[in-house]
Amino acid sequence: MLSDIETENDVKLFSDIFYQKLLADERINHLFLNLNLEEHMPRIYSFWSTILLGTLSYKRNMMETHQHLSLKKEDFPIWLRHFESTLRENFEGDKTDEAISRANTIAMTMRYKLLGV
Ligand code: HEM
Repeated sequence: MLSDIETENDVKLFSDIFYQKLLADERINHLFLNLNLEEHMPRIYSFWSTILLGTLSYKRNMMETHQHLSLKKEDFPIWLRHFESTLRENFEGDKTDEAISRANTIAMTMRYKLLGV
């Protein structure tokens, strides 16, 4: 029996596992290998804490950040599959479902804004 996402530590835990999967996947890891993770990961923690726990700590423009990345249509299902499997393997409950659903909606919006598809 798994528990739901409840604390900032839970957010940190799933974000770290998610990034391990992204970094291990040769189809997509070229986008992440040159990142300064010490700077990047706290942004990811605060983004998901803001969405799921209402901490309101994330103040940046994440859509703008992705404009410089030359993402391809095929990158989105890969990113989403790693996100969803990370959550399903480690948590369960309403917040977990909400995280997956929000990730899908934001990814669709992002893909449309960046690629028009
Ligand atoms: C194809 C899918 C995606 C890929 C390959 C991807 C990749 C990346 C990369 C490489 C960065 C770092 C950019 C930089 O700092 O220069 C980044 C930032 C970020 N990504 Fe994504 N991303 C994807 C989709 C998403 C989605 C769907 C979300 C949210 C649900 C998201 C949330 C974020 C956040 C919060 C940041 C930090 C932005 C900031 O504050 O600067 N990403 N992403």
